[in-house]
Amino acid sequence: MTKKDVIVALDYQSKKEVEALLAQFPEPIYTKVGMELFYREGPSIVNYLKDQGHRVFLDLKFHDIPNTVAGAVRSVCALNVDMMNVQAAGGIQMMESGAKELLAQKSNALLIAITMLTSTSDEILKEELLIQEPLSETVLHYASNSKKAGLQGVVCSALEVPLIKKHLGEDFLTVTPGIRPADAAKGDQVRVVTPEEARALGSDFIVVGRPITKAPDPYAAYLAIRRAFLGEDVS
Ligand code: C5P
Repeated sequence: MTKKDVIVALDYQSKKEVEALLAQFPEPIYTKVGMELFYREGPSIVNYLKDQGHRVFLDLKFHDIPNTVAGAVRSVCALNVDMMNVQAAGGIQMMESGAKELLAQKSNALLIAITMLTSTSDEILKEELLIQEPLSETVLHYASNSKKAGLQGVVCSALEVPLIKKHLGEDFLTVTPGIRPADAAKGDQVRVVTPEEARALGSDFIVVGRPITKAPDPYAAYLAIRRAFLGEDVS
C-alpha cells in the first residue's frame, strides 16, 4: 500500500529559489516540479532534487498521440522520478500507451491522470467543451478510464475522493491539490479543504504550494500540515 504523504509544489522559476527553500528543510521531502520550473531549468533540476534525496512528482501533464506519450514516458523514466502524469482527456489508448511504456522501462514510478483541471467549471464544460454531463460525473468517468488504462490513480479535488474510492477502490490513488489550513489565504484556489478534511475524505497525497512556500517558516508550516494530514501515522 502506498504511504500517504504531503507533496510540496515547487512553483518557482529558478533552481536558486528552490535551493533557498529546501535549505530550510533538514530532511528530504516529496516535491512537485511543474512546467514553470522544468521548462526553465530542464532535467538538471530533477537530477539535483534526486541527488539531494528528495522524491519528485514531475507534473508535465502529457497529452499527445499514444506514440508520443510513450516516448515522453520513456524520456522521463530516465530521470528516475517517483510520479508523472497525463491528461485523461487524451483517451484510454493514449494513457495505456504511457502505462505500457512504464512497464517496459521497469520503472517503479506512479503514472496518474489529471481528470479535469480544477479551473474547469460546469459552464466551461458545457459551453466550451460541449460536454453535457455534470462535472462530477465527468471526473468519475475520466478516473474510471484511467484505471482501465492501467494507471495507478488520478489528480482530483479532495472533495471528489469519496466518490472515486467508492467506485474504483481504496487502492486507486488520489492526489489532491487545493489544500489550505484553516488560517491560510485561499489565493486563486476556489474549492479548498484543510489538511484534516483531506485526511477524513481519504486523500492519499496532498499537494501543497503557497501555504508552505510563502510561510514565514516553511519547515514549521510543512510539519504542521503533515501532522494534520497524517494524524497518528506521522513518522
Ligand atoms: O499554491 P497552491 O497550494 O495553490 O499550489 C497547488 C499546486 O497544485 C500548484 O502547483 C498547482 O499547479 C497544482 N494543481 C492545482 N489544481 C489542479 C492541478 C494541479 O492546484 N487541479
